[in-house]
Formats: sequence, structure tokens, C-alpha cells
Amino acid sequence: MFTKEKINNLFKGEIIGKEIIFLESATSTNDVAAEVGRKREDPEGIVIIADAQTRGRGRLGRAWISPPGVNLYFTVLLKPPFSPAEAPFLTLTAAVAVAASVRRHTGLKAEIKWPNDIYFNSKKAGGILLEMKADKDRISLLSVGVGLNVNMSMNELPEEITSLSTSLKAENRRPVDRTGLLGAILAEMERAYKILLQGNKRALINEWIHLNCTLGHEIIAKDRDRVISGTAENINDRGELIVRMPDGGTEILNAGEVTVLKIKTG
Ligand code: BTN
Repeated sequence: MFTKEKINNLFKGEIIGKEIIFLESATSTNDVAAEVGRKREDPEGIVIIADAQTRGRGRLGRAWISPPGVNLYFTVLLKPPFSPAEAPFLTLTAAVAVAASVRRHTGLKAEIKWPNDIYFNSKKAGGILLEMKADKDRISLLSVGVGLNVNMSMNELPEEITSLSTSLKAENRRPVDRTGLLGAILAEMERAYKILLQGNKRALINEWIHLNCTLGHEIIAKDRDRVISGTAENINDRGELIVRMPDGGTEILNAGEVTVLKIKTG
């Protein structure tokens, strides 16, 4: 259970967690983040956590199932001194932070499916939704929304996605302390964000490579109306996926535009 006391004692970094806003329920923590971002002069580092969301959303206009009392739904506000084109790197950074802290905190083998899905044993348990306010060459505010199925039972999910989804409890066979895990993720996000601010993208890419379950596998991806199938070969310094096509050529997939539909791991 989230308690006021536990929330008050959450991680407070130099950047992330300087203020924590906890809500029993929100439409979406990304909505609250957008509002906080409008009202505050210096919102960077504010974290919005909700115990439940009534209109949680995922990438590509999908809903994010957000029942109370079981999972993590939170948004971190950031203002990186980057151009909008560099924003996808922030999702990569957040995915590294989530997967690394879940591994450390629970011992479970969390993996990243490109660009930012959190997987366990080929099933999805978490994702990151990045929303941005920017002008032509500067990001003015980023909402990094993280959803992670922690103690949700699989029977709380619609039948059509139970074979594709999981939770930490389902993998671990015992419940996980949500607040402890949230603190660990925030600490890891602060660490990874500082590495990014220092300009050391390579270090983050190497961590991403260590944690990923996409490279080396055959994938099918959708880029607007185009379907691409090939072998995921590498990621470049922008966090884009390099795919080797059957004709020997390469395609570069951008996280903002493309979704990987399928990874063949067998
Ligand atoms: C995805 O994999 O499609 C991304 C899911 C992101 C869900 C989180 S939950 C907290 C934040 N608020 C939302 O409405 N979405 C993100």
C-alpha cells in the first residue's frame, strides 16, 4: 500500500524527486504533469504518482490498464537542454533505468524491447510514454510517463492480452514492495539522466544493449503504412534501430515513428 509516510520518504535526488505529487487517482499522470508544467516556473524533477488512472494511455493511442492498489503509474518532468529530435533518447534512458532497477531490486530478468517496453520472458510488463512541449530547436518540457505492472494478477487483464502481458508478481510468484521499487527506479533515473547530461550517450547505449531482448532477432515493424521485416542488428547513437533487410541493405527505424510488432526469439 502507498502511505503518505512512505511517499514522503521516497528518493529525492539533486534533480529528480525534488517534489513528489501523490494522487489516489488521476485521469493520467501525464495529464497532471502537463498541467503542473504549465503552472510551475521550474518544474524539472517533479514526480507525479497516481495509485490509479481512469484514462491511462500508452503509445499509439492505446489505453494503459491502470487499476488501483497494485501497479506503478508515474510521470517525471524533465527539461533537458536538447533539440526535439533528441527526445527519443530520453525514452531509451528511462527504459535503461527501469529495467536496471527492477533487476537489482527484484532479481528478475527485466529486458528492454526496442525502444522502451519492459519485458519478462517475452511478455510485456511495462512501458514508457514520452510527451513533449518544444519549439523548433529546444525541448521546453518533457513528461516521461512510466507504467509498470507490479502486483497485478493476470485475471485483472482483458483476456486478449493475458498471453502477451505479465506483472512482476506473476513472474516472481510473490508481491513486490511498490514504494521501494519506485524509489529504486527514481534513483536509477537520476543516475542515467546525469550520464545523459554529461554527454555520455555511449555509456547508456551500452547499458541498453546489455539489457535488451531485440538485437540479433528477426523483427516485424510498422512505419506508418510500411511493414518492415528483417534482423535487428544494432542501435545507433540516436537510439534508432538498425535493421538488416533480407536483400542485405539496412533500414533505420526511429522510435518516434515506428513500432516493432513482433520479435521472433525462437
Ligand atoms: C506503452 O508501452 O504504450 C507506454 C505505457 C505508458 C503508461 C504510463 S502509466 C503513467 C503514465 N500515464 C499515462 O497515461 N501513461 C503513462
